[in-house]
Amino acid sequence: MAIRLGDVAPDFTADTTEGPISFHQWLGDSWGILFSHPKDFTPVCTTELGGFAARKAEFDARNTKIIGLSVDDVTSHDKWKGDIAETQGTALNFPLIGDEKHVVADLYDMIHPNANDTLTVRSVFIIGPDKKVKLTLTYPASTGRNIDEILRVLDSLQLTANYTVATPVNWKDGDDVIIANSVSDEDAKVKFPKGFRKLKDYLRLTPQPNK
Ligand code: BEZ
Repeated sequence: MAIRLGDVAPDFTADTTEGPISFHQWLGDSWGILFSHPKDFTPVCTTELGGFAARKAEFDARNTKIIGLSVDDVTSHDKWKGDIAETQGTALNFPLIGDEKHVVADLYDMIHPNANDTLTVRSVFIIGPDKKVKLTLTYPASTGRNIDEILRVLDSLQLTANYTVATPVNWKDGDDVIIANSVSDEDAKVKFPKGFRKLKDYLRLTPQPNK
């Protein structure tokens, strides 16, 4: 069954390029991002893994662990790692799950048979420290993901987990945010001392509170 926002991310044990892991234990108190790749030794996946490796420090800075998955085994991943380092200029620096039996892919509904009945689509699951799924994204094999967007949405998720705000269209870290409608004007004056602009009763903007 499809995984929905708010569901507990299914736990699993798996072999990875960094040894066996038990997923929830590996996540610990961190945020986590699990993302699938259709297959080893494929071009788009090679660029994505190099791209995530190059930006890993930005995930670390957000207390977020990243982990990839591909439906080949770890022996194959270990051979592929050389190509990733050679062509993308950054070596793999996070675990890649060997899922040749599709155990994790099935648990997370990463194989969409009408797209391809053996390879995964490009799924992204962002998981909070409470182990609940906060965001899902699904891309076809032919379209590589945008790491700027994944970091942007992670910033929004982490901000809105801590403040009674929402983020508007195309928001990025540092932009004004929307005060949740559950907060009265009276309370907003206290909670958001930098003030707010009221465009409509239901649309009030305030500077990002944690900046
Ligand atoms: C790729 O990563 O380029 C790819 C993987 C599977 C199917 C199509 C493309």
